[in-house]
Amino acid sequence: MMKKKNHLILLGLGLAGLVQASPDADRRAAETEAQMSDDERFQLLHGHIPLPIPELPPLRPGWKVSSGRVPGIPRLNIPDLAETDASLGIINPFGLRKGDVATALPSTLALAASFNPALARATGVMLGTEARAKGFNVLLGGGMNLARDYYGGRNFEYLGEDPLLAGVLAGESVAGTQSQGVIAMVKHFSLNAQETLRDWADARIGEAAHRESDLLAFQIAIERGQPGSVMCAYNKVNSRYACGNEHLLNTVLKRDWGYKGWVMSDWGAVHGVADFNAGLDQQSGALLDKKVWFDAPLRRELAEGRVSRERLSDAVRRILRSMYAVGAERPLAESEIDYPAHAKVAREVAAQGMVLLKNEGGTLPLSPKLKKVLIVGGQAHIGVLSGYGSSSVTPVNGVAATIPVSAPTGFAARSRQSWFASSPLKALAAAMPETQFQYESGYFPEAAAARAKRADLVIVFATQWQGEGMDATSLALPQGQDALVSAVARANPNTLVVLQTGNPVAMPWLKQVKAVLQAWYPGQEGGPAIADVLTGAVNPSGRLPISFPASESQAPRATPPGLGLPDETAQVLEYPEGSDVGYRWHGLRGHKPLFAFGYGLSYTRFEQTGLSLRQDGDKLTARLRVSNTGPRAGADVAQLYLVDAAGRKRLRLVGFQRVELLPGQTQELTLEIEPRLLADWADGGWHMAAGRYRFALGRSAAELGPRLDWQLAQPRRLAP
Ligand code: BGC
Repeated sequence: MMKKKNHLILLGLGLAGLVQASPDADRRAAETEAQMSDDERFQLLHGHIPLPIPELPPLRPGWKVSSGRVPGIPRLNIPDLAETDASLGIINPFGLRKGDVATALPSTLALAASFNPALARATGVMLGTEARAKGFNVLLGGGMNLARDYYGGRNFEYLGEDPLLAGVLAGESVAGTQSQGVIAMVKHFSLNAQETLRDWADARIGEAAHRESDLLAFQIAIERGQPGSVMCAYNKVNSRYACGNEHLLNTVLKRDWGYKGWVMSDWGAVHGVADFNAGLDQQSGALLDKKVWFDAPLRRELAEGRVSRERLSDAVRRILRSMYAVGAERPLAESEIDYPAHAKVAREVAAQGMVLLKNEGGTLPLSPKLKKVLIVGGQAHIGVLSGYGSSSVTPVNGVAATIPVSAPTGFAARSRQSWFASSPLKALAAAMPETQFQYESGYFPEAAAARAKRADLVIVFATQWQGEGMDATSLALPQGQDALVSAVARANPNTLVVLQTGNPVAMPWLKQVKAVLQAWYPGQEGGPAIADVLTGAVNPSGRLPISFPASESQAPRATPPGLGLPDETAQVLEYPEGSDVGYRWHGLRGHKPLFAFGYGLSYTRFEQTGLSLRQDGDKLTARLRVSNTGPRAGADVAQLYLVDAAGRKRLRLVGFQRVELLPGQTQELTLEIEPRLLADWADGGWHMAAGRYRFALGRSAAELGPRLDWQLAQPRRLAP
């Protein structure tokens, strides 16, 4: 059943039609660039912000309100670069495009929890299709900073804490978008791991630690997805701003990885004209910086010989090359969008991304015989929570409620909490017609507890709102919700919790409740998707893409460094965990997290057996059999971890695969092992020491099965 449904969705989107990318993009870019005047060249190197606000120049005719625009050159058939933010859907900035809506996906963290590259590709195709249909050809999506901290305000927009998982899924999503003739990107390069003081913070990290973690995630995504652009970050990396960081841009990205696309800055992240020679090709939203550096000041640099003609041509060619390579030069035109088809993608991500964390005594799926269910909190009577920032989408089925939230400065100053009009309560009531559902706000815990006593079962919807420009300050659920859950569960032990959070949270009430479902921000189809999992119409299959630590003391940093300090404070960010982000850190330190990376329950049972390794030249693959030994169709995720590398203790996910199985079905899986995860970065390259490499299949990073060894006779060096 489940299998068929997924295939239909992926197939349906595939039919949207692939745009033919030009195989000779380099040659075409060079030919076009050679015909350009310098005015035309400089025109491509800085972007405008097409918003109708008094601080900005008026919109030019034909410009759509959006995050960015770079005027094209009609005489050379170069269209405008019409850019839209789209981490979770095509945004409508501040609702300024009156009446415009788009398909709102769940958090990218939910997509990561699916461990499903094909689903990531389907979301990319969907985003590319909507971008094109709305008149955009550059998608500012692809957020993939590793979640180094459990409070990161934008972690919900990213793909969790593991470089392989994040890199593979980001690459697939990019490839999906670009198949529709829309340039995609990965961002924010690199180490934009916290929002607190993001414009001034200095992320300090050693080269090996960086290459083996955040940079590896970007490298895998770039190889797999070939994004037309890379967006550099606001923060400094080892004392140099990321967008003027010669080492990051010229050495790592362009030299070592041979990246052929262009580097665009984040909005307001350029600090001087010298950033151009450091490897930045385009200044985005240039009026946000102190100067439009990549116009008059850059012309001066060229005239006075500090910038070479070759470098100017190189930057322009990179932009043109991506345009041709992706097929984005097609004229911009608007068309109809098949929103019902796209809603299925949003629902599938929500369904596959939900993680069942606890299910005592088979409480879930809910019995259709329940008479009276009390739903408490989370505004579950009207909708589902969404995250805030440049990823905020105006969903197709509307917003049920919005509260402006005042924050002192920066991006957060305009923040608002929005509940998408997709009520879990209504969806549950529709799915369980024999059951009576009531809603209780949970505003007064004692009142909620009194009502809870009179129900057969209680579901508390607990929320943690997160957004761009602000971080959480601890693992605690905000606004007294821990006390609410406890009070309700004391009154009625038959209590479950559905979490909608942007990050892991602590659960001091865990022992008191029967079940916990992590729904992240579940997007525009969140209500029915939650109901599907709670009622068993969908068998949960999500696995945590981020660890849930037992307490702040297990995290490398208990709160965001610089919290509460005024803007412009220089803040050094030390990363003692190095490349051992998340579960690697917990595993190597012997922590027992509340829920480990990779963990997630199902309504059926799986067995993984027969692990073997096979070497074919330099390629190492693992084989295993997965069987569904329980009563229902469901999906399992095989996870292979490296636990020892030539005598050094390790904990690294080196391969994974999601598989859907009918009851009684067995399937043989082949996992490709990413060789760089077996290696260390040293002396400008990847090194694999000779010796014994030990692997284990894991139900999660903290539940490892039997070990299997592989011998490397001679040390091996891999390309950077
Ligand atoms: C965000 C980017 C976004 C850009 C344009 C910045 O504040 O960091 O992710 O693409 O704005 O809206």
